Amino acid sequence: MALIAPSILSANFLNLEQDINMINNSEADWFHLDVMDGRFVPNITFGMPVIAAMKPKAQKTFDVHLMIVEPEKYIEGFAKAGADILTVHIEASTHLHRSLQIIKANGMKAGVALNPHTPVHLLTDIIEDIDLVCMMSVNPGFGGQKFIERTYQKIRDLKQLINERAANTLIEIDGGVTLANAGLLIDAGADVLVAGNTVFSSPDPVDTIKRLKQVGK
Ligand code: DX5
Ligand code: ZN
Repeated sequence: MALIAPSILSANFLNLEQDINMINNSEADWFHLDVMDGRFVPNITFGMPVIAAMKPKAQKTFDVHLMIVEPEKYIEGFAKAGADILTVHIEASTHLHRSLQIIKANGMKAGVALNPHTPVHLLTDIIEDIDLVCMMSVNPGFGGQKFIERTYQKIRDLKQLINERAANTLIEIDGGVTLANAGLLIDAGADVLVAGNTVFSSPDPVDTIKRLKQVGK
């Protein structure tokens, strides 16, 4: 059974409280919060003030995915806003090891995200320091895109690296997750499934979360 993290990117921004309550009252495990800066990715979403406003209403872990350049500048700010897990992109981090240390020093779990073209072996010398790998299964920037099939092999490769090194790293899959591919992702080694469009465009999001949760049980 995987952890399920609905992505707020697909929520109703005019009534976030309603969607926060929906997630609180569902079997979801985490809130997945996509922060975009219009530089690392060709889209702009929300940042610290929105996350801080959501935090008192939300009863589950805040999994914050930074799709921004120079993420190290904002680590403390996102800790204060309420992030429990803070994920930076390897492609945006010149000093990844230092960034992970600062994230942990600020009381958060440290995540590293990989774009679809970024090979898993780049994590060889840092895997033990990573709490969560966010493996992008679409190009970051937008919800509702088509899943990239190559991801299955990347999950298996990452799982092998984690096992070889006896690391405690969780594998999160982000982008294009559906009820149809969730089982295959879990079989390949996924621990956390992010789902935006699949949850929020369904007629009954609470039931869809429940069904995602049942996959692989
Ligand atoms: C994409 C974001 C994802 C996105 C996933 O850049 O990182 O978290 O919300 O959305 P779906 O599940 O609709 O592909
Ligand atoms: Zn994301």
